[in-house]
Amino acid sequence: MNDHDHGILIAGCGYVGTQLGLELARAGKSVWGLRRSAERLPTAIAPLAADLLDIEGLTRVLPVGVDAVVYASSASGFDAASYRAAYVDGLRNLLQGLARCGAAPKRLIFVSSTGVYGQSSGEWVDEDSETHPSRPTGQILLEAERLALDSPYPAVVVRFSGIYGPGRTRMIEQLRDGRARLRGGLPQYTNRIHRDDCAHVLGHLLALPRPQPIYIGSDDDPAPRDEVVSWIAEQLGQPTPPVEPDSTDGLRISGQNKRCSNQRLRDSGCSLRYPSYRDGYATLLTP
Ligand SMILES: NC(=O)c1ccc[n+]([C@@H]2O[C@H](COP(=O)([O-])OP(=O)(O)OC[C@H]3O[C@@H](n4cnc5c(N)ncnc54)[C@H](OP(=O)(O)O)[C@@H]3O)[C@@H](O)[C@H]2O)c1
Repeated sequence: MNDHDHGILIAGCGYVGTQLGLELARAGKSVWGLRRSAERLPTAIAPLAADLLDIEGLTRVLPVGVDAVVYASSASGFDAASYRAAYVDGLRNLLQGLARCGAAPKRLIFVSSTGVYGQSSGEWVDEDSETHPSRPTGQILLEAERLALDSPYPAVVVRFSGIYGPGRTRMIEQLRDGRARLRGGLPQYTNRIHRDDCAHVLGHLLALPRPQPIYIGSDDDPAPRDEVVSWIAEQLGQPTPPVEPDSTDGLRISGQNKRCSNQRLRDSGCSLRYPSYRDGYATLLTP
């Protein structure tokens, strides 16, 4: 691709972004992938090597023919400063860079997280639920969402739950090496979505004619963490792991134990390849 081509820019083209880029390229779209180590991108994705925190360097590489942007960068740590840099500063720089080079994307998708919800009593949450995150990082994500939605470009926010898939199989590894523990006590609901479904959701939202401003991106099956661990253990032919003493409060404090509804996404016509953790993990269990 050269500067005058038209295509889709994936800013922060990593685990999810690369999968999206490959899907879009397979469908015949032109895709730019922007990241610092752009040499890691597959050849189907045109590389743009830049740091989202360096506005000058960023503006130098941005092409003018950007039809749509997916912002899927990630923070280098779980602290507030890392989140602010990754989601607020990086996005603000990108918006400035796009304006400076005269690009006028017709859609901007900001990848956010269900960490913006602080509910922790097992209740269902949807896009209209209150957002009182339990951690300051969730508040920063809300700030970045607002920045995207208030930008000059038609924007959509997608709040993904826990992303798993090839290479992101911590629960399986913990079971295999005997470190996995159940939490015990009352059910503690967790939510997840497979990487390939994240890519599919983003592709769907790029093409959707009149999207809503916000979507939750999660599978159909919020499930208690202990149920998921026990099911994977069973598939591996292992005994159910022991219960870790006094651990239930920790999970509740960290803002989990909610059930994320994907009804709005489903109603928009989006299909999921892995509607339950059982479908997704089944493909990851063969060594
Ligand atoms: N993981 C989860 O469970 C989860 C759950 C909900 C939402 N999300 C969100 O989903 C999004 C995508 O997640 P992911 O797993 O695909 O993340 P990822 O694999 O870490 O990909 C993000 C990419 O952004 C690039 N990047 C980071 N800082 C950059 C900078 N300053 N300038 C340019 N590029 C930069 C990184 O590449 P370089 O290092 O080469 O620059 C990296 O490849 C993130 O927004 C994340 O917050 C994740």
